[in-house]
Amino acid sequence: MITGKIIWLTGASSGIGRDLLVKLLRAGNQVIASARSADAFTEIKAEFPHLLTPLTCDVGSSESMATAKAKLQSITDSLDMVILNAGCCEYVDLPAFEPQLFERVFATNFQGVVNCLAIALPLLRANSRSKAQANVQSRAQVVAVSSLSTVLPFPRAEAYGASKAALDYFIATLRLDLKAFNVDVTLVQPGFVATPLTEKNDFPMPGLISSERAADEIIWASEKRKKLHRFPRRLAWPLLLLRSLGPVWERWVAPALIRKPPTLY
Ligand SMILES: NC(=O)c1ccc[n+]([C@@H]2O[C@H](COP(=O)([O-])OP(=O)(O)OC[C@H]3O[C@@H](n4cnc5c(N)ncnc54)[C@H](OP(=O)(O)O)[C@@H]3O)[C@@H](O)[C@H]2O)c1
Repeated sequence: MITGKIIWLTGASSGIGRDLLVKLLRAGNQVIASARSADAFTEIKAEFPHLLTPLTCDVGSSESMATAKAKLQSITDSLDMVILNAGCCEYVDLPAFEPQLFERVFATNFQGVVNCLAIALPLLRANSRSKAQANVQSRAQVVAVSSLSTVLPFPRAEAYGASKAALDYFIATLRLDLKAFNVDVTLVQPGFVATPLTEKNDFPMPGLISSERAADEIIWASEKRKKLHRFPRRLAWPLLLLRSLGPVWERWVAPALIRKPPTLY
């Protein structure tokens, strides 16, 4: 059980992050909760006045993160865990192809994670140095929220999928380099989760799960110090099987997911 920890959770105002926030607070953790919307936490703050500290920031903006850094350092001088959950999704609809869409998606899903870690890592290392001799459960931890979309290339996910694939590589590398600092790193890859992010999807979402279930999976993987956790299994396993079958995906499965182009170039 994750309890009594000091946790920075990004993307805490809605969807998976919101459920994570409530569960972590109920378990007795001190949570510094981030999102861009300043008033997102008013109700929960009233319920957990001593455990919740809102930290408004835009993870993709260096100016906003400079302010957030000073604020976070005034709140705490160490962190047990950072959960990098803030994310956004925009699909590419050819023939429209805007570089700005890629900039927006990467700013939040990739650079946003880098920006948060630049602030969190010194605080996590401070924690791990002081508890280096202690048991696994007291080691500091980075948890990053990627996506099952990185298992295979999905139509229209050029920006979203690429931003999460970049995140996967970054996190796998970071795990190697943080070993020397006693900081554990967990990567989670959810499938489709019913949240405001997927509300706009007008295509079938196999294996759709609730945000509450997704939050439980992320907490479980963090508690177990998993390196990688893909869920739900009923979507992850078929995708992994299809990936292992080489050209099957591109030749037979993906074409069925592609929309008929509205017009030619
Ligand atoms: N839903 C799914 O099917 C699914 C599947 C796989 C992975 N994921 C990943 O799970 C994570 C959470 O997604 P969700 O489905 O819960 O989405 P969501 O309901 O839209 O929540 C996204 C959260 O991120 C915050 N956020 C977005 N952009 C931000 C920015 N620039 N700076 C700071 N905070 C920002 C949002 O708050 P503000 O708007 O107030 O800033 C919100 O709290 C994302 O990383 C997403 O890619 C989701």
